[in-house]
Amino acid sequence: MLSTWTFMKRFARSPLAIGSIVPSSRFLVARMLESVDWDQANSIIELGAGTGVITAAIDNQRRPGSTFISFERDDDMRRELNARFPDVHTHHDAFMLREVLAKQTLGSVDCVISGLPFANFDDAQRTALFSDIHAALRPGGVFIAFQYTRLLQPYFLSVYGRYECKRVLINVPPALVYFCTKQSAS
Ligand SMILES: C[S@@+](CC[C@H](N)C(=O)[O-])C[C@H]1O[C@@H](n2cnc3c(N)ncnc32)[C@H](O)[C@@H]1O
Repeated sequence: MLSTWTFMKRFARSPLAIGSIVPSSRFLVARMLESVDWDQANSIIELGAGTGVITAAIDNQRRPGSTFISFERDDDMRRELNARFPDVHTHHDAFMLREVLAKQTLGSVDCVISGLPFANFDDAQRTALFSDIHAALRPGGVFIAFQYTRLLQPYFLSVYGRYECKRVLINVPPALVYFCTKQSAS
């Protein structure tokens, strides 16, 4: 299993791509997932799985028969995820979300949960990914993302109209968790 030490070495090699020095704390993981309605979630997407701390919690709580697709760009971490979570469909690049979903018979999804280092992407990448995530969600579906800065707030507002934000202090570094719901088209 990939350790925190391995994750730290990955961070030392490519800090912008990895985005944090250690995996998320259990407090951050719990905060990310506490509002998900697991009885209703049939399709869950995770973006930026890393060593799988959030992946494991999702996999524990999701209902049997639900579809769980996880994206992780680092090849070694993705190999480990494949070995640990054989029922989870893993893919390489979150920027391929639209293409990956187009090949599935899944329809729109209930939940997108992100640990991606959005702050290290450029504006065009952030805009494209926000658009793809919103398009992937069903009306009433939720997008949950943790960040270390407030940089994404304008993106949440412009795409979802509103967001809720909760702080998690027991994490390195302290994090902000954003919750957005896709509005029904009226
Ligand atoms: C801040 S770490 C979070 C890891 C894990 N979710 C956690 O909470 O500990 C961000 C992760 O996103 C991955 N990542 C960065 N860009 C990505 C991309 N375009 N597609 C998929 N994963 C990406 C990195 O390799 C890294 O593992």
